Amino acid sequence: MKVLLTGATGYIGKGLKERLLEDENIQLRLFVRNEKKVRDKYRDRLEIFEGSTFNKESLRKALEGVNVAYYLIHSMGAKGDFEELDRLSARNFLDACIAAKVQRIIYLGGLGRKETASKHLLSRIETGEILSSWPESIQTIWFRAGIIIGSGSASFEIIRNLVQKLPLMITPRWVRTKTQPISVVNVLEYLLQAKDLDTEKNLVIDIGSEEMSFKEMLLRASRIMGLTRILIPVPLLSPKLSSYWLLLMTPVSYRIASALVEGLKSETVIQNDNAKRYFPRISLFSYRDAIKAALDSL
Ligand SMILES: NC(=O)c1ccc[n+]([C@@H]2O[C@H](COP(=O)([O-])OP(=O)(O)OC[C@H]3O[C@@H](n4cnc5c(N)ncnc54)[C@H](OP(=O)(O)O)[C@@H]3O)[C@@H](O)[C@H]2O)c1
Repeated sequence: MKVLLTGATGYIGKGLKERLLEDENIQLRLFVRNEKKVRDKYRDRLEIFEGSTFNKESLRKALEGVNVAYYLIHSMGAKGDFEELDRLSARNFLDACIAAKVQRIIYLGGLGRKETASKHLLSRIETGEILSSWPESIQTIWFRAGIIIGSGSASFEIIRNLVQKLPLMITPRWVRTKTQPISVVNVLEYLLQAKDLDTEKNLVIDIGSEEMSFKEMLLRASRIMGLTRILIPVPLLSPKLSSYWLLLMTPVSYRIASALVEGLKSETVIQNDNAKRYFPRISLFSYRDAIKAALDSL
């Protein structure tokens, strides 16, 4: 099976590359913007194509002969209108996959409802809709995940830094919003198994482990780290102030911090049981085990 992996220099793509390389029956091809970013001990076991989803010719070349293509890209770090860039990127990718007769696109986006979605999440939803818009020509398997717990993930680093640095936290009132975090180990397993799934339909698959509020998430993380923390939700904390606070206390950029804070307002819980139906053998890490695994791999 020839597999094209985009986003291989990103958080999820990097992890998935390692997992795909474990399977010797896969011919792995990476599509990256800058080849120098791929410092890989397995370089002889993969092909690297340089390009961008905004360069149609580079996409055409990279997708030649590919059976399954992973789309693990977003434009949030780019200058300009990231929503429009995300739309264009997804359209170019879909068109190039159809032209190259790729059989399946696998995409990971975010959990949440359109009506209450932040700008960032809305753009992730639009990307999934575009990639799924030609089911008669190509199949798309669209995963949706909320907070991903793993060492190096922005959300986990925020949880870890806040819990370790602040015995008492004044938080926005949205910490009562429900969420369903998932271990990065499980996310990678779903993405990996999706390439072999025996169905030709388009699918939307929501993935998440235990349901809890953001407040519980922080308090439970503090207990797992052996710390006692107090959270006081107050109504006056504005999104801007909360984002600056995260910028000050955690290693994430202002752009990521404000996207995450905006995202706190809407519930990120699963809306279908397709994960259980199509992947009955994947057993999910509990929140406790996900945090422990992330701390162990620091
Ligand atoms: N991380 C999470 O906690 C999380 C949670 C839920 C869902 N997701 C979803 O998972 C997917 C991947 O997220 P991530 O966290 O792995 O992102 P990330 O770490 O920011 O990586 C983004 C990747 O996209 C590449 N890229 C951006 N624009 C490109 C373009 N025009 N052409 C080619 N490559 C381009 C980047 O390449 P460069 O290295 O060249 O910049 C990078 O490899 C996203 O759809 C995201 O919504 C992530």
